[in-house]
Amino acid sequence: MQSLLALLLLLTTWGVDPDCHSHGNPDQLRPLHLSLDIAVDFERSELQGSATWTLDRLAPARELVLDARELVIERVSVRTGEGKESRAGFRMSAPDPVLGSSLAIEVPDDVTQVTIQYRTVPGATALQWLTPEQTATKKSPFLFTQSQAIHARSWIPCMDSPGVRTSYEAKVTTPRGLTAVMSAETVAGSAEEGVFRFRMPQAIPSYLIALAVGVIEARDISPRVRVYAEPSVVDRAAFEFADTEKMVQAAERLFGPYRWDRYDMIVLPPSFPFGGMENPRLSFLTPTVLAGDRSLVDLVAHELAHSWSGNLVTNASWGDLWINEGFTVYLERRIVEEVYGEEAALMNLVLGWQALRNTVDELGDSSEKTVLSQDLRGLDPDEVFSDIPYEKGALLLHRLEELVGREALDAFLRGYFDAHAFGNVSARTVEIELRRTLLQDVPPGEFDLDEWLYGPGIPGDAPIPRADAFLAVEKEVSRLVAGTSPRDLATTGWRTQHWLHFLRTLPRDLDTKKLRALDEAFSFTSTGNSEILFSWAQLSIGAGYEPVLPAVETFLRSMGRSKFLVPLYTALRKNPATRERARKIYSETASLYHPISRAALDRVFAGG
Ligand code: BES
Ligand code: ZN
Repeated sequence: MQSLLALLLLLTTWGVDPDCHSHGNPDQLRPLHLSLDIAVDFERSELQGSATWTLDRLAPARELVLDARELVIERVSVRTGEGKESRAGFRMSAPDPVLGSSLAIEVPDDVTQVTIQYRTVPGATALQWLTPEQTATKKSPFLFTQSQAIHARSWIPCMDSPGVRTSYEAKVTTPRGLTAVMSAETVAGSAEEGVFRFRMPQAIPSYLIALAVGVIEARDISPRVRVYAEPSVVDRAAFEFADTEKMVQAAERLFGPYRWDRYDMIVLPPSFPFGGMENPRLSFLTPTVLAGDRSLVDLVAHELAHSWSGNLVTNASWGDLWINEGFTVYLERRIVEEVYGEEAALMNLVLGWQALRNTVDELGDSSEKTVLSQDLRGLDPDEVFSDIPYEKGALLLHRLEELVGREALDAFLRGYFDAHAFGNVSARTVEIELRRTLLQDVPPGEFDLDEWLYGPGIPGDAPIPRADAFLAVEKEVSRLVAGTSPRDLATTGWRTQHWLHFLRTLPRDLDTKKLRALDEAFSFTSTGNSEILFSWAQLSIGAGYEPVLPAVETFLRSMGRSKFLVPLYTALRKNPATRERARKIYSETASLYHPISRAALDRVFAGG
């Protein structure tokens, strides 16, 4: 009997990866719907209100266990099937350094809803409270959330696991004059009254719940695409993202219907710690992509692509982030190919391949950290973040395309998005499905899926992409190295990707005279393109080219994107001549950066 039960249990949990980053008990009490009622208090830097969870009882349980990080719980009540409401006892565990606390709430057998009355703390890791000076417009405060990977628990008591999906609705009260937007449909709202109502009918994981509050204006790009931003930024944003409707149409042709109704974007104040975040119906974007010439909009293609890979079909745990990000990078390139042509997509593929090569070289060919599907028990997903899930994950899909052809891969992808829509998958699920479909007729000697998913390094059969456009760039690099003056290089017609490849291919030990000549010819130090400045600054700081430093300092003081901050501070610290300057800039700017960027930089500055 015992063993029969064990077998049954094994069968029912087959393929369900428990999430090591959540305390929740979704196999007993499964959250179905969240009703949020919160007030935004800029004076105290806190959210106050309540979260009501509607639950499905799957197995007997005495407690509902939620994740909470530093939340102040004021009162908890439970409701039963007959509508009876009563106070409930609860217990917050001592915080785990990675996971935060568990919040265990006593519930009766017939519980249907639990309401938690709570407040956030000013240091809540998902929230950034900006003073007016930290915004573009400088007049009003601003708040935004960043819940991925495990920060939702710092502003909502929830089962903070990508495998727990719920619909939600929210009432958000703001100071008069400020607008709230969420990763949901705005049902009603007025900045004059300061009350907004939202509704997200599709089931999403907690890491996709998002809120931004500030003086925000909107411009429509198409009937279903709109961009929000601070008033002084919104027109530039509308210009930059004018192609977004075309991208949505391309993505639909490739991967099937867009299932989230609207696709809107918000350009956040400069301290946003990422390039973009795929909050459903409303991507969050860094203003550092506003280059003025639409040259960095692959980022939009990326966040849009998450509407299929990630938001519709989600990694079951953070150890399989490649299921979100690797698929998305591949989809992103396909969208770029449709809208901007084959060459643009190919150049991105080559740039991505080189980033992967560098990362694997740094980590070491046999490092566990280069494995796609990882066991992250005891680790903070923010700390192990790297290029691997993005570029090695995408490369696997490029390899499959090479192996079975684009048509077969596309059919697989559409089937995969349909079969798992609003669901979760683990590496095992992807593995089983690939073997059952695409790989059925591929001889075992030709392709080793195990090695790709569970082995380190770059598999020997990985395609090595080449872009003709880059051969021309490499030729100019050789000519420069051989002594040709920068002004005599053949750079006519080069776009951002050519320049990025140029800067990344230049020898790292150019003398300052050469760097000065390059700068005089191409004005890298004064470019308005954040990616070009970033590449140029890395090269110049390493080579001790001092004239770049004021621009680097201005850049570091003007935005909080972790991808730029971490390598630049690292480079400044590496060179004894600029080490002290790095410390000084960081000590003066730390309070302006987002907690996520700050945590990453504290790790940089803790290093020797
Ligand atoms: N979902 C990610 C951002 C993220 C990943 C946040 C992991 C927290 C944990 C987003 O879609 C992303 O990949 N952003 C990139 C964009 C780039 C690859 C085009 C970024 O921010 O740089
Ligand atoms: Zn992504």
